[in-house]
Amino acid sequence: MKNQNEINRRRTFAIVSHPDAGKTTLTEKLLLFGGAIHVAGAVKNNKIKKGATSDFMEIERQRGISVATSVMGFEYSGYKVNILDTPGHQDFQEDTFRTLTAVDSVIIVIDAAKGVEPQTEKLMNVCRMRKTPVIVFINKLDRPALDSFNLLDNIENQLQIKTCPLSWPINNGPDFKGVYNIYNQNIKLFSPNIQNIEEGVCIDDMDSTELKSVIGSDFEILHEELELVNGVYPEFSQTDYLNGNLAPVFFGSALYNFGVQELLDAFLEIAPPPQPAVAEERLVKPEEPDFTGFVFKIHANIDPNHRSRIAFVKVCSGKFVRNNTYLHIRLGKNMRISSPTAFMAEQKEIIEEAYPGDIIGIPDNGSFIIGDTLTEREIIHYKGLPSFSPELFRYIENDDPLKSKQLNKGIDHLMDEGVAQLFINQFNGRKIIGTVGQLQFEVIQFRLEHEYNAKCRFDPIHIYKACWIESENPGILTEFKKRKYQKMAKDKLGRDVFLADSPFILQITQDEFKEIIFHFTSEF
Ligand code: G4P
Repeated sequence: MKNQNEINRRRTFAIVSHPDAGKTTLTEKLLLFGGAIHVAGAVKNNKIKKGATSDFMEIERQRGISVATSVMGFEYSGYKVNILDTPGHQDFQEDTFRTLTAVDSVIIVIDAAKGVEPQTEKLMNVCRMRKTPVIVFINKLDRPALDSFNLLDNIENQLQIKTCPLSWPINNGPDFKGVYNIYNQNIKLFSPNIQNIEEGVCIDDMDSTELKSVIGSDFEILHEELELVNGVYPEFSQTDYLNGNLAPVFFGSALYNFGVQELLDAFLEIAPPPQPAVAEERLVKPEEPDFTGFVFKIHANIDPNHRSRIAFVKVCSGKFVRNNTYLHIRLGKNMRISSPTAFMAEQKEIIEEAYPGDIIGIPDNGSFIIGDTLTEREIIHYKGLPSFSPELFRYIENDDPLKSKQLNKGIDHLMDEGVAQLFINQFNGRKIIGTVGQLQFEVIQFRLEHEYNAKCRFDPIHIYKACWIESENPGILTEFKKRKYQKMAKDKLGRDVFLADSPFILQITQDEFKEIIFHFTSEF
């Protein structure tokens, strides 16, 4: 029974946005409500500023900070809230995708002046794939904004999800007056208060002379707009939201802490508690008595003298207990976990127990890779941590022949952390690194040098896509590999990958080998 209560009161989610839409600011305001921080400005920006692509110290500084802000837990109104942070820079989007596998819902922040931006679309695609419920927060209403109806149209078209406004803004920019809370049917007047918790004045009567005198000519406009809202948008359905088919929308200004409490209160009420997790073998329910969990993120210590790492484990079922022995499925080995940490309030602390929805940090000296599963004894492999076919490819070569051991160890560790993907060309034995952005090559080179004392260089290679291949016909698979031997590689887990030079080559190869399935993610 205790487990069930603990599960029901947990809300584990991520806030995602295109860079600069206000993710960090909103996170900070939510933490203020939860008492996890006490002053604005306490959450450091976990993002690499634009144009800083070769500023390694900045990258390192950011990485140092991001471990502290990777997971932020706090208690609020009887709920245990776990916010998972995601990197802002698009070159680290794989990290974001993996983090999304560990959450039960998502809040998407959109800049009211810009509408949906490219990265928001990509993130939404991942949510749609996983049917993750999303709430949209349209931010920066204190600045001149696009028309609210156009913003909702834009979300419906670009993000391909039906919307349902649960609040409505009264004007915007310098004339921003506040928001009407459609859910509670009252109005909160805008009073800029950057520092702490909002205290806006509330008006319950929509037709009151008080409201009319405060918002002036916006009074009629608000009534007209709300009539239209009632006519056009569906009533809020929690089932549709939970199935990922409807996005409730809130308007506000994170900077001025306005509309944030409404968002938090509604979120806690409607967002899902921990959900069943899909394993290769079966669906695992959170309320099952036995502990299970999986590693979705590994964070390395940037100090080369203390090269320990932290594996972040999402608890999926049962109760995790410190000092208990758990089975590391991939290694087939029992492990006693004596120093699990959680990230509560402003600090990291050793915890005695954790429940589904919680994230625990396990100090690691190389036993874990992303996707590893821990259980009490059952053989379970959690799914849902796919690698996507990278966008950029380079050969990685040793630039200091005396340090090849260090180089290989460094490459192995960085790949375990999911920094990039490694393929070994079966024809020439050369190592190929695949990434989603240029920045990752720079990070790899920098980290190999500073953490592993190894030097590497990258040589060009012409690859358009890496495709994981499979076929029900083993003869065809062998024939394919023989015919394409120059273009065949193995990924880190030894699976067959075809390296296509161009979209044209890929197309004719697919046409020629109809019995081969070409996958663009590693999980199929
Ligand atoms: P991100 O994590 O999504 O990348 O965005 P972040 O919160 O860092 O916000 C990006 C910029 O937008 C910041 O300004 C922040 O202060 C501002 N901002 C966020 N929410 C609001 C809002 O509701 N209204 C207004 N007017 N601005 C908002 P910056 O100048 O880039 O950074 P900083 O020096 O203020 O930290």
